[in-house]
Amino acid sequence: MEVIIRPDAQSAANLTARLIACTMRTTPNPVLGLATGRTMLIVYSILVEMYRRGEVDFRNTTTFNLDEYVGIPSNSPGSYRTYMDKNLFKKVNIDGANTYLPDGMAADLNHECERYEQAILDAGGIDFQLLGIGRSGHIGFNEPLSAMRSRTREKALSPKTIIQNAPFFGSQDGTPRRAITMGVGTILDARRCVLLATGAEKARIIAKAVEGPITAMISATALQLHPRCTVIIDESAAVHLKNQDYYRWIFENEPEWDAYRA
Ligand code: F6R
Repeated sequence: MEVIIRPDAQSAANLTARLIACTMRTTPNPVLGLATGRTMLIVYSILVEMYRRGEVDFRNTTTFNLDEYVGIPSNSPGSYRTYMDKNLFKKVNIDGANTYLPDGMAADLNHECERYEQAILDAGGIDFQLLGIGRSGHIGFNEPLSAMRSRTREKALSPKTIIQNAPFFGSQDGTPRRAITMGVGTILDARRCVLLATGAEKARIIAKAVEGPITAMISATALQLHPRCTVIIDESAAVHLKNQDYYRWIFENEPEWDAYRA
């Protein structure tokens, strides 16, 4: 795992978008794993701008979102399908048939989860998995005690997550209680993982996720086991990290980051 600290949320999102664009340019038929939530809104707006400037081309890209609510029709305002259509898919030249989200309305949810895993395999696996982190430490909707080897499945959302997501549904009562999510094991199979977290409210959970012991209580700690995981944070989310000097030194000195310092 490596940690990159950028001055603010905009520059952290900008670096994230540039890494996604780099994967899209250097991989013949790129497969992206995508996340939703507030943090990713800036990333998608930057990618849309890059597309408009001719810097990225989504024609050959396939995407798999991490998760979708159960019991919310895909065309309803709160669904992650609606979020993705609105913020990315309808604004770029991606083929809608290559954009996958779990179907939270499927009659047989277990079968839908198996189908989703198979679709990822059939696409050749995920080249670049974008991740956010919830206040409960979840990645995707892998709430506390999710098995490190879990695969795509239906999951009950924790009270913390329900509170976090309530603004999108107007009230806690109207917020879905369950979701289909890629498992921790599914996420760890991606060839590259990038977790983006910004803002002071993420600082404590980031410190635990990055420098704390690996525990199923905080699913994001599983990323410490991934051979190629980058955690991109802004200054506000970095305040509780003990090894900030080391992380800054890596970004300033490693040739891998030469192109990204400006
Ligand atoms: C959503 C997802 C979640 C979010 C996380 C952070 O697809 O996978 O893990 O990334 O809950 O959400 P925000 O960015 O709203 O703080």
